[in-house]
Amino acid sequence: MDEATRTVAELTRERWEANTDYWVKIIREGRDRYRTELTDRAVLDAIGPCAGLRVLDAGCGEGYLSRTLASMGAEVVGIDACQGLIDAARSHPAGPGGPVSFHRAGVDALPVEDASFDLVVCNHLFSHLQDPADAVGEFARVLKSGGRLVVLTLHPCFYTADAEQGASTSVPASRYFSRRGIDQRFLVDGLESPSEITSWLRPLEYYSGTLRDAGFVIADLREPHPSEEQLRADPWWRQGFPTALFMLLIAERR
Ligand SMILES: C[S@@+](CC[C@H](N)C(=O)[O-])C[C@H]1O[C@@H](n2cnc3c(N)ncnc32)[C@H](O)[C@@H]1O
Repeated sequence: MDEATRTVAELTRERWEANTDYWVKIIREGRDRYRTELTDRAVLDAIGPCAGLRVLDAGCGEGYLSRTLASMGAEVVGIDACQGLIDAARSHPAGPGGPVSFHRAGVDALPVEDASFDLVVCNHLFSHLQDPADAVGEFARVLKSGGRLVVLTLHPCFYTADAEQGASTSVPASRYFSRRGIDQRFLVDGLESPSEITSWLRPLEYYSGTLRDAGFVIADLREPHPSEEQLRADPWWRQGFPTALFMLLIAERR
């Protein structure tokens, strides 16, 4: 099948299969400073204490966040469309803590029961979904009433191509209000991914409206960013954070 006849979801999954070894390497060697020094802490702060909670890690990748939440006492189910990453997650030794399991599936058709989770976390997933509405509907279905959805994603207002390399351009309204797709390879700590990935961005009102229509109430919106101290002390952050790169949403299932 050529690229034109594949669905976007199939193409995304194939590209992630091609990137599996790369992704496992950069995550397990702690090479992505955006995560290790910024977004991981922001996600864990948003989640708070999770002992005893049943958590779905949607788009779990090689599973590091699932393992962290399990080590904090949660029961975690990690789901990802990429078989290579699920195999990597399953083969990593589980530490002490709550039970953790990994399954291959798309987040727009979750193989789990209605109202069976206290928390769904999407760590760097949303920008990989061309249209997150079906996934958000699934998260609403599988969450218990009062359950929370935590989404860490690229900032829809400010993220532009090559922002991690210091590029920062404003997004004109003509592009901002339509669906934007940015095709690029990951470049993390000097290592480039074998396959290009498309990052999809929508206007802010798309995310709020999609959550509202699925039965969520937004409880908080945060913009994880380096501290004054990080910016002052480290040129890496001054160059690598030219604009607001991340958005974190916390929503509650009504
Ligand atoms: C940037 S990675 C993030 C992985 C992990 N959450 C992390 O932070 O390391 C995006 C992940 O989303 C997964 N993904 C993309 N589209 C998906 C879909 N429709 N259903 C499930 N997983 C998907 C990819 O396979 C990939 O593992």
